[in-house]
Formats: sequence, structure tokens, C-alpha cells
Amino acid sequence: MGRPTRGTTGTNRLRRLDRWLTGPGAALLRAADDPLVVDLGYGASHTTTAEMAARLRVVRPDVEVVGLEIDPERVRAAAEGLQRAGLGGTGVRFALGGFELGAPEVLGGRRPVVVRAANVLRQYPVAEVGPAWRLVASRLAPGGLLLDATCDEVGRRVAVVVVGDDGEPRELVLSLRLAGLERPGVVAERLPKALIERNVPGEPVHAWLAALDDAWAREAPLAVFGARQRFAAACARVRAEGWPVLGRPGRWPLGEVAVAAGAVGL
Ligand SMILES: C[S@@+](CC[C@H](N)C(=O)[O-])C[C@H]1O[C@@H](n2cnc3c(N)ncnc32)[C@H](O)[C@@H]1O
Repeated sequence: MGRPTRGTTGTNRLRRLDRWLTGPGAALLRAADDPLVVDLGYGASHTTTAEMAARLRVVRPDVEVVGLEIDPERVRAAAEGLQRAGLGGTGVRFALGGFELGAPEVLGGRRPVVVRAANVLRQYPVAEVGPAWRLVASRLAPGGLLLDATCDEVGRRVAVVVVGDDGEPRELVLSLRLAGLERPGVVAERLPKALIERNVPGEPVHAWLAALDDAWAREAPLAVFGARQRFAAACARVRAEGWPVLGRPGRWPLGEVAVAAGAVGL
């Protein structure tokens, strides 16, 4: 289900997503009965899928990562690229598939614990996002997650809607490179499709980004100690203001902050 779109990708582009999976997502991977992960819509090269597998192996050595593409030419190119890079036999393979996660033989009746769809749904009309979430979610293992993620060309500004196995959004994760960050709200142009058109005054997602920007500005004196401290203080401030910030404060100095989906209108 779906249709081919631009295949733009890049080496190391999705490192912040891999870091979330090996951080907050690690417990899920470790506990999985079947450590199967799908990288849906990996684009014009095998690279980000192979990088993902290498990083996930650190928390789950027997992880198997299946890259699925709706464009058959990209499946052929990725399989060749993997072999050329000497990465055959490393728990990575590529196959044809869309939001239904391929023909029955592709996953052989197995259910992935994680599906990453990075920079895929942004190219679809917003009306197709919810149905795509529900279709992917219906194929997940119990307790599994879909990451509907968006980022800039070099992966410095990332936004992720984490969707549960019921097809409902759980949280919005923002992950930003802090060096040189002007303000957290610059991620606005990279919001996933479900949010980007709603980022206007009066909408909850707009209020969330404005609250982060305001907290960042108020914590400007901490800039002398570095952007990590300043960002962590800004996250603590928005949480103290009542925003349902999720997860461990230890993630904040990494430029990562998560908020409950309902708070941003998802
Ligand atoms: C912009 S690229 C993203 C590549 C990579 N994930 C990244 O973020 O760097 C989007 C890719 O998603 C693929 N795609 C679009 N719809 C899809 C679907 N329903 N199922 C699988 N792949 C899809 C396109 O063919 C394209 O190669």
C-alpha cells in the first residue's frame, strides 16, 4: 500500500532515531520475543538501514532488520549496495513492501517490534496518515511501535510521532543538534505531516513549540555553561509549567525531549 516518492537519504542521516531506539526504545527491543525491526521506505540506498542494524545490535545482538521499499528498483539497488559494502549476512535484508509490510512471505507471518518510517509519510496527503498508521500498527507485535519520523537533510532536526500497536499516537519526540541551535522551534519546518499543517496560533502543537522557545530564551544565561545545560533547563521549565514531558531528564542534554501526544493535539 502506498506509492513511490523521492528517495532522498544520506549516510548517518537517521542517527538520532537510532539513538532513541537504543535509549528509550532499548527495553522494548530487549524484551521482544522476536527481535524483528522494519525500516519502511529506506530510500535510494542501503545505508541508513545497515547503520540502524549495526546500532541496534549493540542492545539486541540477534536483531534482524528488514528494509522495505515500495520501489522495486530501490530494493535491487539496496541489496547490491549491501553486498558491495561487504555487509551481507549481518542480519539485514531488503524486500518489496508498503504500509502493509509486504506480501505474506516477506515477513513470513512474523510481526515486527518496531517499524521506522522516516521521511515517508511527509510526502503523502494528511488524510492518508491516520489510515497508514493503523495499517502498519495492525502488523506490529503486541506492544510494538511505529516511528513516523521526519528530519532535515543531514539529520540535525528530527521530529517523531511514536504510534502504538493500536494505531494511536503516544508521544511526539523532538531531537535537535544543540550546537549552534538558534531556538528549539526551528524544528517546525520538519514536523511530521500529522502536525505540520496545524502549527498555527491557537493549535496545541504551536503552543508547545512556543513554550519551548520561551523557556529556551529564559534560560539564555545558562548558555555560558553550554547548550546542553541550557536545553535541559528549558525542558525542566516547560515540565514545571505543566506540559506532560515524558521520559528521563537524562535525555535532555542530548537535545531530546518527548511530550504526550494528546498535549500537542495528536
Ligand atoms: C525521502 S525517502 C526516505 C529515505 C530514508 N528513510 C531517509 O529518511 O533518509 C522516502 C522513501 O519512501 C518510499 N516510500 C514511499 N511510500 C512508501 C510506502 N508506502 N512503503 C514503502 N516505501 C515507501 C519512497 O519510495 C522513498 O524511497
